Amino acid sequence: MNNTLEETIARITPELIETRHHIHQNPELSDQEAGTARLVAARLAALGLEVRAEVGGHGVIGTLRGARPGRTLALRADMDALPIGEESDLPYRSQNVGVMHACGHDGHTTVLLGAAQALAAERDRIAGSVRFLFQPSEETGQGARRMCAAGAMDGVDAAAALHAWPPLPVGQIGIRMGAMTASADTFDILIHGSGAHAAYPHLSADPVVAAAQVILALQTLVSREIDPVEPAVVSVTQVSAGTAPNVIPETVRLAGTVRTHSNAVREAIPERMRRVVEGVCAAGRAHAEIHFRQGTPPLVNDPSVAALIADAAGETLGRENVILLPHASMGAEDFAEYLAYAPGALLRLGLGQPTPLHAPTFDFPDAALPVGVRVLSAFALRFLGA
Ligand code: NI
Repeated sequence: MNNTLEETIARITPELIETRHHIHQNPELSDQEAGTARLVAARLAALGLEVRAEVGGHGVIGTLRGARPGRTLALRADMDALPIGEESDLPYRSQNVGVMHACGHDGHTTVLLGAAQALAAERDRIAGSVRFLFQPSEETGQGARRMCAAGAMDGVDAAAALHAWPPLPVGQIGIRMGAMTASADTFDILIHGSGAHAAYPHLSADPVVAAAQVILALQTLVSREIDPVEPAVVSVTQVSAGTAPNVIPETVRLAGTVRTHSNAVREAIPERMRRVVEGVCAAGRAHAEIHFRQGTPPLVNDPSVAALIADAAGETLGRENVILLPHASMGAEDFAEYLAYAPGALLRLGLGQPTPLHAPTFDFPDAALPVGVRVLSAFALRFLGA
């Protein structure tokens, strides 16, 4: 469909593979992406883009201005690696002990550099501008928020990003109109009772028994209080109390996570959790302190942006290679933060491999690089009216 774009991508692919191997070999944890950011900034500057570095940490923004004025599209990649020791004998395996690119962010960063290069060659056909956002600290859920606070989304009309997805074959993408990933909030519950000798429980207000009932009662929040067609998860994942077998303790601490696909459900849960926890504790002569921490919001794809991506991807990859995913994920992705500023969509890039994300043997396949570049570039050209 678009010969010059396809030619450029074919020409730059060997160099992109080298770049990906270099980033894979030199992984950096969240908030420590200085080396990756330097590489990204240098490549963007070499393409003649306007470059802003150290945005919201080690974030880098490159702006490509088209030949004519028009809308602004943001394309985003994440640059950080994970605290996992790589198990591999690849020639380009991690040289940073205990740190590896196990979530494919080396691939995401390289794909976006490739898209910048491919689109820079199409500048004459672009009305408006493409803003390339290379964010730090996705794994800690902090990077996107800080990039936005630093103005990354000011004046942006739409945003898109991709994430590596092992179960889909290379050459395919997955997308949804609507919910894509979940919110990830956390809670901390401190249950205060009164302690006593374990032989004289009637002299205590036992917070351990209250905590046990609270854990079970919280399971009714999703099953009895949330519409069954709305996905939600409430998991208590940490329980801590006690110092000795013969002492009823004073306090029990519970902590866990809440996941939802809609802001309405997300906002309804804290008040309901408070009522259940306080009611159960009162029945056991205990009382509770509850602290909520809002993390990443749910990622809900804008249907019109998602449809445009599906259309552009279908044209370059073949319609049969654009998969409408039947389910959203209960995992979280901080790309959701950008969508508070402009409509946008996240797509899944097929990797065709059995190794899951975050496994110590994970490696982003090189064959998926040009596929990602084709999809992002074709979508950008479509969105910017070329
Ligand atoms: Ni990831």
